[in-house]
Amino acid sequence: MNAERVIEISSLNKSFGDFKALKNVDLDVSLGERIVICGPSGSGKSTLIRCVNGLEHYDSGSITVDGIALSAPRGVERVRAEVGMVFQQFNLFPHLSVIENLTLGPMKARGLSRKDAEALAMTYLERVRIPEQALKRPRDLSGGQQQRVAIARSLCMKPKIMLFDEPTSALDPEMISEVLDVMVELAQEGMTMLVVTHEMGFARKVADRMVFMDGGEIVETGTPSTVFEAPKSQRFKTFLDKILQH
Ligand SMILES: Nc1ncnc2c1ncn2[C@@H]1O[C@H](COP(=O)(O)OP(=O)(O)O)[C@@H](O)[C@H]1O
Ligand SMILES: [Mg+2]
Repeated sequence: MNAERVIEISSLNKSFGDFKALKNVDLDVSLGERIVICGPSGSGKSTLIRCVNGLEHYDSGSITVDGIALSAPRGVERVRAEVGMVFQQFNLFPHLSVIENLTLGPMKARGLSRKDAEALAMTYLERVRIPEQALKRPRDLSGGQQQRVAIARSLCMKPKIMLFDEPTSALDPEMISEVLDVMVELAQEGMTMLVVTHEMGFARKVADRMVFMDGGEIVETGTPSTVFEAPKSQRFKTFLDKILQH
């Protein structure tokens, strides 16, 4: 594996009032690495990945993405140009068509002409296998289709890193696999990915490393095969027993 570090998180701390959401979190990610982050609700998973692209401020520690410190001048803006994010709730613009959702960023932030932005958008809609939905509004699509639009929209910005925060947990069960399939393809193409998910089949298939969080800390990391077979900590074991029952 290429050892170039694209994300360096060091001694990260974050509180909401008196509540410590992140406690001394350290995490380095190499170029092309696929990391799956799991852990109980409230363990700090969203807070951690939101910190990576500056959606959440942190109190102390440091984050460097592709050599850019978030704390540097225009750090957040420069980091966001490298990082795409997909949320549980899709976050598409409801008043815009699918293709307008995809062309907005490239035209505004990357200066593409409408024609070029539309060609790019169609390429990615084909990649996520819904080119025929281009002219519809998000509300006329299924949840699985909307999430694939959200992924395509992120890819149109040519990110170097993709963050996913429980991308399938708002979906009806029959739509989960169509979204995971797109994510697996992305992983196979070499995208660097940080994925918060409890889809352990996906983790087994693509994760280079699993990160288990609990109580704002990274409790354990390891390859899927080692952690699924023999988690070191009782907390991870209890968590896995619970989710693998379902
Ligand atoms: N904006 C906020 N204000 C106050 N507390 C928050 C806020 N965001 C998250 N928290 C708290 O921080 C903890 C970690 O949240 P989060 O990172 O969303 O956990 P997870 O994604 O693992 O479920 C939770 O206890 C949550 O209630
Ligand atoms: Mg969360």
